[in-house]
Amino acid sequence: MPNTSYPPPDETVRARSLAKYRKRAASYDSTCGPTSSIRERAIAALNLRPEQAVLDVGCGTGLSLALLRAAVGEQGRVYGFDQSPEMLVQARQRADAAGWKNVELFECPAQELTLPTPVDAILFHYTHDILRSPLALDRLLAVAEHGAMVAIAGVKFFPRWLAPLNLWVYVKNHGYNGSPGELTSPWDRIAPHLSGWQMEPTQFGMGYLASGRLNKK
Ligand SMILES: C[S@@+](CC[C@H](N)C(=O)[O-])C[C@H]1O[C@@H](n2cnc3c(N)ncnc32)[C@H](O)[C@@H]1O
Repeated sequence: MPNTSYPPPDETVRARSLAKYRKRAASYDSTCGPTSSIRERAIAALNLRPEQAVLDVGCGTGLSLALLRAAVGEQGRVYGFDQSPEMLVQARQRADAAGWKNVELFECPAQELTLPTPVDAILFHYTHDILRSPLALDRLLAVAEHGAMVAIAGVKFFPRWLAPLNLWVYVKNHGYNGSPGELTSPWDRIAPHLSGWQMEPTQFGMGYLASGRLNKK
């Protein structure tokens, strides 16, 4: 009998996500204009300092890399990873073309990430599937220092009074994610690990921007 429980297991989500980004990768960057200011604000929320190490979770085509690198400087380190070869190849091309020596990219699922050094900050920018996977979160929080700054931006359902619009949010999200449900409070698995939690709606309520410090104690 197939497992019809929800959320689906990580392997199912992974297979769906890989298939979606295989198709989406070539045009992905052209769809990101409307969220570029959210990206900037999420990265600013990390309060990065020169020489820090930062992790770009599900870095995709690498649209956050330049800003992250500018914030940590030549002596800092930027790590990024993504499981989609078609997305990551573009991130690698971006880093190679710019000649960035302190940007290191890994092709792997979040659930299997290992890093050369622990990080001081983590960016989750539109990485819903990863936020919904307890295994992925455990792995990512393990590669960060206690007190690491974490910033998260993504899609959520509109508030209740705009509920009819949530069908559209669900369908839109379905185009990107292997596990498109659980949009009421997509942050609820990571929030308990963070202190100083702050969250604000974006995009008229169909998005959110959140941050906090990793509390490992
Ligand atoms: C909406 S894109 C966001 C890309 C990038 N963070 C950005 O802001 O442009 C989501 C990315 O997460 C990646 N992804 C989804 N699940 C993943 C997982 N379990 N491990 C690694 N990457 C994953 C996808 O391949 C895709 O590139």
